[in-house]
Amino acid sequence: MSVLLQTGKVYLLRKAFNNSFSKYIFHRKKSDVSRKFISFDEIVAQRRAEARRSLVVQVNSESSFNELYGYCSKYASIDDIHHYKNSGGEHFMLIEFSTEENLKDILQSCSSHQKDLDVMGVQSPFLWFRATTGVKEKYPQSVKELAVKDGSLRVNEEVLFEELLNCETVSDQIQMLYDRTVLNDIGVRLRYMVARQLEIIFSSLYANIKVQPFGSSVNGFGKMGCDLDLVLTNTLNDNMTSPNHRLVYQEKKSEGGRSPWQRHMELVGALLEMRVPGASRVQKILNARVPIVKYSHDLVDVDCDLCCNNTSGVYMSELLWQLGSLDPRVRPLTCVVRCWARAVGLTNAHPGRWLTNFPLTLLVLFFLQQKDHGPVLPTLKHLVDLAGKDDIRIAEENLNCTFLRDLDRLPSESYAQNDDDLQTLLFKFFEFYSQFDFQDKAISLNEGKPIRKPNSHPLYVVNPLEQALNVSRNVSYEECERLRLEVRNAAWHLESCMDGHKSDDWGILGLVEQKSSRGLKKLLRVGNSHRLVSVKDLFNESDDVEPSEQGIRSKMEKYKKTDKLTGASVSEMKFKEKKSEMRFKNSQTAKEVYRIRRNKLI
Ligand code: GTP
Ligand code: MG
Repeated sequence: MSVLLQTGKVYLLRKAFNNSFSKYIFHRKKSDVSRKFISFDEIVAQRRAEARRSLVVQVNSESSFNELYGYCSKYASIDDIHHYKNSGGEHFMLIEFSTEENLKDILQSCSSHQKDLDVMGVQSPFLWFRATTGVKEKYPQSVKELAVKDGSLRVNEEVLFEELLNCETVSDQIQMLYDRTVLNDIGVRLRYMVARQLEIIFSSLYANIKVQPFGSSVNGFGKMGCDLDLVLTNTLNDNMTSPNHRLVYQEKKSEGGRSPWQRHMELVGALLEMRVPGASRVQKILNARVPIVKYSHDLVDVDCDLCCNNTSGVYMSELLWQLGSLDPRVRPLTCVVRCWARAVGLTNAHPGRWLTNFPLTLLVLFFLQQKDHGPVLPTLKHLVDLAGKDDIRIAEENLNCTFLRDLDRLPSESYAQNDDDLQTLLFKFFEFYSQFDFQDKAISLNEGKPIRKPNSHPLYVVNPLEQALNVSRNVSYEECERLRLEVRNAAWHLESCMDGHKSDDWGILGLVEQKSSRGLKKLLRVGNSHRLVSVKDLFNESDDVEPSEQGIRSKMEKYKKTDKLTGASVSEMKFKEKKSEMRFKNSQTAKEVYRIRRNKLI
């Protein structure tokens, strides 16, 4: 109900205050008040600065706060202390000092290494708080409190589902799912600490080293526990390579059969194993197009993928961050679609012939660019056209990643042009892809409309920053068919909720609850297939139209606005044209699939 009534503007205001990054809005200068958007570069600069003046200290429990605060504040001024636990139940405090100098002071005054012959000392921002030997110092009760307690605690699924069950509207459910699962402030801080740790440890080996998080940890679409993608660069700036400077460093060429990057990543892998506290389960994947080293960080509880010189990944994150900032519905909608795709097995954490979250996110953003329902997002072409001199970015291999960075310069009529609530948008998303011509068309965020497919890949999602590439080239025909099937199932499910009746899987519950399909998978597994049923068996051009299709259309009628009649009738016509494609061959089986899933009989 509340979301139904919320216009984009009201929403923007409300979310600005709820958003974990909102504190930065209040850090802006007075002269900035006319600015509506904060840029990705500003956020990254803030986060990196925060990490440079922070330490992560392992403690006995959260009640160590007073002692730790008392001890450290003797030497330096503290901004805040955040508490979290890793999955091993160990307690940590992330201390943010007021300045970088404060951090240096404290390390100089009271840091120490372990006296152990088996250990070679290393400096990193991860420490532990040793118990006092001798008389325990007394610290007065601190006036400050923990900024956050148990900050990495993930929402309990059962509790979340119970809360979703009690929501008023589907839109409220979507918003709640997002608010409860989005990567929180400490999650982001810790990810920047992991990056900072590598910068510190590798800095004497590589000049001007920079380790930057990219992907869902920073693009605004991350959820609690998401992996951490890191890119290591050591780009030398013009000053560092000035031909006027006559003292030139002797340097070392990388020799041997493998490419220099493969060799460096090999070394980085070895360093992670030997020299990086917290890093474990190091795995080197050096023969990939972009060599990566995977590892787990046990002190932070995060899985990391580290690659070298792949700044286009950072620019891609920037682009996604920007699109997510333009309208407050973008991130919640993407969140529910990601959860749904995971629940129905369309996406999978492991690489394979299926979709991953990144192309799936592009599918959502592309849907939001569609003009017929009033675009929520602009096309990338528009952002490129508006780019100025300051926006020029060239990544490795001369990849042009130039697009408008200052969103305040984007004309307001190019985004947030409809007032659909989240429920309507989600329904329209499923409906849009139920009708999408995957056979002939490719998804292009650059154009904001379907374009002709350049080859026969079953699913074609143009890489927005490298348009000759398909980011979903790995997706098989079967998986693409499954996508088509699942978006229709999802549309039916949402449609069935529109009559106001609330069963125990009403609204998004029936879409994001994984367990409902578990038994079903077992029941319907056929032959060697690991999929529910053979998709081919489900289609038949000659069967009757599913009765609920009519229902969908009648509900769609309700959403059409009188002032947008022309656009709506076009989409209805398209819907009619596609009718024959939407039939099931074995409608009985299909209905069973749907019924069992919805009623959770198993
Ligand atoms: P999750 O990790 O699943 O939460 O999402 P993610 O967006 O971080 O995806 P992933 O870890 O798979 O990839 C990290 C980033 O690498 C993405 O956000 C993209 O910027 C980039 N990326 C992933 N897949 C591709 C691809 O096929 N092509 C290109 N050019 N970039 C990709
Ligand atoms: Mg990732």
